[in-house]
Amino acid sequence: MTSAPSDPLTTDPLTVVENASKRFRQGNREVDALQGVDLRVQAGSFVAVMGASGSGKSTLMHLMAGLTRPSTGTITVAGQDLAELSDFAMTDFRRRRIGLVFQAFNLIPALTAADNILLPLRAAGNAAGGEQVMEELATRLGIRERLSHRPDSLSGGEQQRVAIARALITDPAIVLADEPTGSLDSVTSESICELLRDLCDQQQRTIVVVTHEPSVAVWADQVVVLKDGRIVDQFSAREHDDAQALAAHYQHTLGAAAQHSESVSGVSLDHVAC
Ligand SMILES: Nc1ncnc2c1ncn2[C@@H]1O[C@H](COP(=O)(O)OP(=O)(O)OP(=O)(O)O)[C@@H](O)[C@H]1O
Ligand SMILES: [Mg+2]
Repeated sequence: MTSAPSDPLTTDPLTVVENASKRFRQGNREVDALQGVDLRVQAGSFVAVMGASGSGKSTLMHLMAGLTRPSTGTITVAGQDLAELSDFAMTDFRRRRIGLVFQAFNLIPALTAADNILLPLRAAGNAAGGEQVMEELATRLGIRERLSHRPDSLSGGEQQRVAIARALITDPAIVLADEPTGSLDSVTSESICELLRDLCDQQQRTIVVVTHEPSVAVWADQVVVLKDGRIVDQFSAREHDDAQALAAHYQHTLGAAAQHSESVSGVSLDHVAC
C-alpha cells in the first residue's frame, strides 16, 4: 500500500519572492511600485510588512497572491512558480491555498455577511459543513449577531471582520491580510491579532499581514520594512519587548533609509530645514 502524497504546503517550507519588481503606468509616467524585492517567508511563520503609504506593501501582497504578475522576478508559493500558472489555474490555486483580506474589503453589496463569508466555499463547490465553520468564525470575530446584514448596514470594523472570516473559511495554508485591523478599535484589533497568532502557532498556517501599527507587528515573528518599493530592513519582532520598542526600531529604520537615499542623491539631511 502506498501512502497518500504529502501536501506540498507542509513539505515545502517557503514562499519566495525573488528579485521582484513591478512597474505601473500612470498616464504618461511610470511608477516603480517594487524594485528588486527578495523575501523568504517560512511556512508556519507570521510576517508583518510595514512601510509608509505608497511604499509598495499592497503591491507585494498582490504579487504573492498571484493577483498581479511581476514585471521582473519570480514568485514561488509552496514550490509552485506562479508564472507557470494560467489565469484559470492561478484562480484555482489561490482559491484552494490562499486566504486574502483586501485593504478595501471587497465584499459583495447584495449578499448578507453570512453569504459573503460562505462565497469562497460555494465558488469551489465545497459548501458542505460550511455553515457551522462560518458561525464559529463569526462568533470568534464578534459578528455572530450581524450575519444576516448586508455590508451597507455594517460598520467599517464589522465589514473588515466579515472579510477576515471570508479569508479563513476555506482553511487556507497561507493568509495574506492587507491592513486587517485598519478600521478596528484596539480591543477588536488585539483579538484579530490573537486569532492570527493562533492560526500560526496551533495550525502552522503562514500569515503575512500589512500594517502601519506597531501594536499589530509586535505579534509577528518577522517584520519587513518597505520604503519606495525596496526592503530596507527585516528584523525579528521577538527582539522587542513591546509595541513601543518595535515602533522605535521602525522609526529608526525609516530615518536611516531616508538619510541613505539623501546621501546617495548628494543631498545631506544636515542641510535640510525641518
Ligand atoms: N494598479 C496600479 N496602477 C498604477 N499605479 C499603481 C497601481 N497600484 C499601485 N500603484 C502605485 O504603486 C505605488 C505603491 O502602491 P501600493 O498600493 O503598493 O502602496 P501601499 O504601500 O500599499 O500604500 P498604502 O499604505 O497607502 O496602502 C504607489 O505609488 C501607487 O500609486
Ligand atoms: Mg496598501
